[in-house]
Amino acid sequence: MLRSLARGLQLVAPVAFRKRVASFSTGDGGGGAGGAASGRRLVGKVALITGGASGLGKATAHEFIQNGAQVIIADIDSELGPQVAQSLGPSAYFVPCDVADEAQVADAVDAVVTRHGKLDIMYNNAGVTGPVYPPSISDLDLDKFDEVMRINVRGVVAGIKHAARVMLPIASGSILCTSSISGIMAGLGPHPYTISKFAIPGLVKSAAAELCRHGVRINCISPAPIPTPMSVSQIAQFYPGLTREQVAGIINRLGELKGAHCEDADVAKAALYLASDEAKYVTGHNLVVDGGFTCFKNLSFPSQDQVV
Ligand SMILES: NC(=O)c1ccc[n+]([C@@H]2O[C@H](COP(=O)([O-])OP(=O)(O)OC[C@H]3O[C@@H](n4cnc5c(N)ncnc54)[C@H](O)[C@@H]3O)[C@@H](O)[C@H]2O)c1
Repeated sequence: MLRSLARGLQLVAPVAFRKRVASFSTGDGGGGAGGAASGRRLVGKVALITGGASGLGKATAHEFIQNGAQVIIADIDSELGPQVAQSLGPSAYFVPCDVADEAQVADAVDAVVTRHGKLDIMYNNAGVTGPVYPPSISDLDLDKFDEVMRINVRGVVAGIKHAARVMLPIASGSILCTSSISGIMAGLGPHPYTISKFAIPGLVKSAAAELCRHGVRINCISPAPIPTPMSVSQIAQFYPGLTREQVAGIINRLGELKGAHCEDADVAKAALYLASDEAKYVTGHNLVVDGGFTCFKNLSFPSQDQVV
């Protein structure tokens, strides 16, 4: 119907209006922002991505660069990090950073500001699952719990703190964090991981309450399972002997949305939207990328023969 409307409009409409209808009907975002139409939505922006050496962070680094950003990968993996940065080309470089150590987060932010004069986008994405065993909270090792919290929560808070330190004075910036569907529904991961991911939307809202008064936005993304090195190695523990591909296949079949599975590129595109000026009025938001997984639960009705 839109196509026939657009065809009809070609006969009468002014050129500018025809272009807008055409971009709407082809689903390329339209939106009005020149950067969006050209697919270069982050031109001139400088982005720091923690955990950028692998998985979702790496895919987001790629997406940001495709859209014109300069990307700094901050990762604890000093072997993989520089290799990934090199593979991403001249718009990427690596800084070593353990997000559990606040001084290293501060240094990474300062290094970016020294080199580029600013930090536009801070993506606090680094995270770990922590131990899968023991499964019971009654056996929880609190030292292991602290380790997960130090990276997944304290590391994110440190990222927000030091990004805010350089963004507040210029009243501009976009901060992103990675939560998970494990931060929406319990029982999907080990206790420390679940607890840590529940914290993220809360601390995003807490920070948004202050930062919005200064023109700085902060949002988080909650993805469904995606076969990255992290999730594959976690799930592989339940399936000894399976190949990486087989485990990835299991993860890809966990979703609910027919005809699709959650990919790292889906998170990268969500991050691109939230980081870009297209989301200029979006803050304190949790963008759930889960194909509907967390929006319903079926009632477990007994079958006829189970009813007594
Ligand atoms: N893959 C999934 O299914 C999934 C789903 C929902 C949320 N997440 C979240 O996405 C984020 C990225 O996970 P991923 O799946 O891409 O995993 P990944 O293991 O592929 O990548 C994580 C990266 O973080 C780095 N890292 C780990 N600890 C660090 C630290 N202390 N300091 C700095 N860097 C550190 C690793 O070296 C690695 O490069 C995590 O926060 C994770 O909880 C993942």
